[in-house]
Amino acid sequence: MTIKAPRGTNDILPPASFKWNYIEERAHEICRRYNYQEIRTPIFEHTELFARGIGEATDIVQKEMYTFTDKGDRSITLRPEGTAPVVRAFLEHKLYGKALPKKFFYFGPMFRYERPQAGRYRQFHQFGVEVIGSDAPDVDVEIIMLGIDFIEEFGFKDYYVEINSIGCSECRPPYLEELKAYLSGKEDLCENCQERLKTNPLRVLDCKSPVCQEIVSEAPVITEHLCPVCQENFNQVKEGLKKLNLDFRKVPTLVRGLDYYTNTVFEVKSDELGAQDAIFSGGRYNGLLEEIGDRDIPATGFALGLERLEILLEEEAREFGDDLQVYITTIGEEAEAESLDILHRLRKAGYSADRDYGGRSVGSQMKDADRKNSRYCLIIGSEELKAGEATLRDMKSGEEEAVPLDGILEYMSKVFEPGL
Ligand code: HAM
Repeated sequence: MTIKAPRGTNDILPPASFKWNYIEERAHEICRRYNYQEIRTPIFEHTELFARGIGEATDIVQKEMYTFTDKGDRSITLRPEGTAPVVRAFLEHKLYGKALPKKFFYFGPMFRYERPQAGRYRQFHQFGVEVIGSDAPDVDVEIIMLGIDFIEEFGFKDYYVEINSIGCSECRPPYLEELKAYLSGKEDLCENCQERLKTNPLRVLDCKSPVCQEIVSEAPVITEHLCPVCQENFNQVKEGLKKLNLDFRKVPTLVRGLDYYTNTVFEVKSDELGAQDAIFSGGRYNGLLEEIGDRDIPATGFALGLERLEILLEEEAREFGDDLQVYITTIGEEAEAESLDILHRLRKAGYSADRDYGGRSVGSQMKDADRKNSRYCLIIGSEELKAGEATLRDMKSGEEEAVPLDGILEYMSKVFEPGL
């Protein structure tokens, strides 16, 4: 029986991998411009980090984590997201002692046991940013703009931005009481929401069931219950986004699926994505560092689903590939033996170079060069070898000329700059 990849995971094969590399390069470039630095954290962490960080009552912790006991009898979880690990690393390495805020970015696979569908996988990849150590509304504006600049880098404009504020530990509890009072009389709420009402009433607000949505449309609105500090903070975020001409919708039912959020939360979506429409999403999490490490340090961030961005990019994956610069075609055993050294010298000098290893005919080798999109073909035959020469064929124009084999690198440097 053949073994297949587990459900909800994807192999990223060439040429699709060219596209992934290109996307990651652009993300690095955007982060350089915004002065964010890369952080890499382990793929697995102690389960407790996510249980406490994301929240015991969330779907992620309740139903979606890949949790196992390791050989040392520890409960370990494959990370379902990147924020809690970044915060853990920040606290563990006492980065709060240095100039704040710290601005991080990361890439990597995340794991959630969800029902797979287009744009939703069990192993997926995020590009995320986290800014730890500032509660300035301009930082919320900055991260949203970073994400927008990133997706616009690919010429993608068909998105919309939704924002909300879910208040702080002062103003949210009284709001939740009011919300609970309103919802508790509503027997038509779906089964899930009856449960959420007890454990996580805020999540009732973003239930997809039409009946629940109808009920929610009359529910008390959180932004009308913010304390003056949260209200002012949210106003400044909105002002900042307006100043930068970013259109956004205020969506009072936007509450997010992770418990650590406070104040401004946002999702950037596209109708082109179908049901899984969020390209990137995040928000402020001013209470998370307290929860994990007893430090009252504010923070904000977002994560973007790279599979979803990849779906949105229409360009053919091949367009992102590096074409081969030189393909060596050999005629006869002697030439084939000689090509080993020439190929190695070309590669050491920075050229992308390749050859055939199957002892195939010249015609097949030329076809292979074509398939590999090689810019030039260096043809070495036994006669030419005796004269210390080879034929360089321009694969675009078809022109050919004789080049000296011992001066090949010098010659190639006139044709290309190494490594380009
Ligand atoms: P999240 O909304 O759970 O937030 O995920 C962020 C993004 O990851 C989503 O908008 C989506 O693009 C992508 N995503 C999530 N789940 C899947 C999946 N199963 N398959 C494919 N893509 C998926 C977080 O993870 C937070 N850590 C974001 C954050 C950072 N908040 C503050 N800082």
